[in-house]
Amino acid sequence: MTMLDLFKFFRTKSEISSNTHTLPSIEGIKDLKGKRVLLRASLNAPVENGKVTETFRLEQAVESIEFLKNAGAKVVVIAHIGREKDESLKPVCEALGLLTPIRWGGEISNAGEKVSHLENGEAILLENLRQDLREGTNDESFAKELALLGDLYINDAFSDSHREHTSIIGIPKYLPSYFGFSFIREYDALLKVMEPKHPAVFILGGAKFETKLPLVTRYARIYDRLFIGGALVHDILKARGYEIGKSLVSDVDLTGNPILELENISVPSDVVVTDGVKRREVGIQAVLPEEYIYDAGPKTLKELERLTSDAKTILWNGPLGNFEKGFSFGTETLARMLASSSAYSVVGGGDTIAAIRSLGLQNRFGFLSTAGGAMLVFLEKGTLPAIDAVLHYQK
Ligand code: 3PG
Repeated sequence: MTMLDLFKFFRTKSEISSNTHTLPSIEGIKDLKGKRVLLRASLNAPVENGKVTETFRLEQAVESIEFLKNAGAKVVVIAHIGREKDESLKPVCEALGLLTPIRWGGEISNAGEKVSHLENGEAILLENLRQDLREGTNDESFAKELALLGDLYINDAFSDSHREHTSIIGIPKYLPSYFGFSFIREYDALLKVMEPKHPAVFILGGAKFETKLPLVTRYARIYDRLFIGGALVHDILKARGYEIGKSLVSDVDLTGNPILELENISVPSDVVVTDGVKRREVGIQAVLPEEYIYDAGPKTLKELERLTSDAKTILWNGPLGNFEKGFSFGTETLARMLASSSAYSVVGGGDTIAAIRSLGLQNRFGFLSTAGGAMLVFLEKGTLPAIDAVLHYQK
């Protein structure tokens, strides 16, 4: 039986305790002094006018970088930013440098020389992996080139680990591989909410029902209550025959879907709408054809208070309203509400975490995840391509 088979066996048997992990950890690596460590970090942060505007992911990356530096390793940090080929990690390097000393390593194609001059205990950050199109295709030649930059590999990029990209699943074939502190924290927190203390409430917002449908089906069984908010609601309302005006819908038609009949699933009873000029709070039956639904209404927020008041576990991913259009009230009100709950709460999704941090509530939750999409994939499957790859190649 390979390590991967063993892992799958234990997962299906639900024998992984919520407080322990079976992943090869950075902490278990012996004798790091002088070793070149290729550290895949999660540094995909928002940048405006050349400055990082939200440093949450950078802060989470610091512990592994400092651990390696203190152990005398030569640390080569690799990461991606954005989806455009010309986006650069340089502003991230500047912001990260304020948290822990790190030098700019520049282009990956010229990195060999820079890495060979690294001193023990030094760290460099290389340029955006996605500037090389081979990153997105799990390319064998790129994996080999990257692997040449290290003696061992650490994945500390949980939020990127649902991508079957070269730096995530390709490198473990060539280097002894481990997981970093941030990755393992995410893993442990999510395992815990996969076997929740009851009553358990799952609040799911954001958009794209097509990617969230399996999750809804699964967690409607595991959790006592499931609240669906954000743009996902539009699909449910549409399938139930309500007018949703010009609101965003997914590529999935929920008409006749059994989830519409599930008693433990609830949706907003009122919403905030706009026609682009006027803004109104209306019951879900009163949306006009020219309006957009952009947030949950006040009655709905009261209902959420009732739904979560006795909860022992709360899992929340995705905002209730459209942040880009300035509709953050529902998400912020929910954040305040959950911050004063005694439930163990796990929250994920970039906009949601940014809202919580901007309100100064970050220490009032059980765990804030760096991940959005990766969190959802892990909750659905109990694993990620990154985990499967590392365990597959582990001797
Ligand atoms: C994220 O921001 O969710 C991760 O960094 C993954 O980025 P991607 O969705 O562009 O692959």
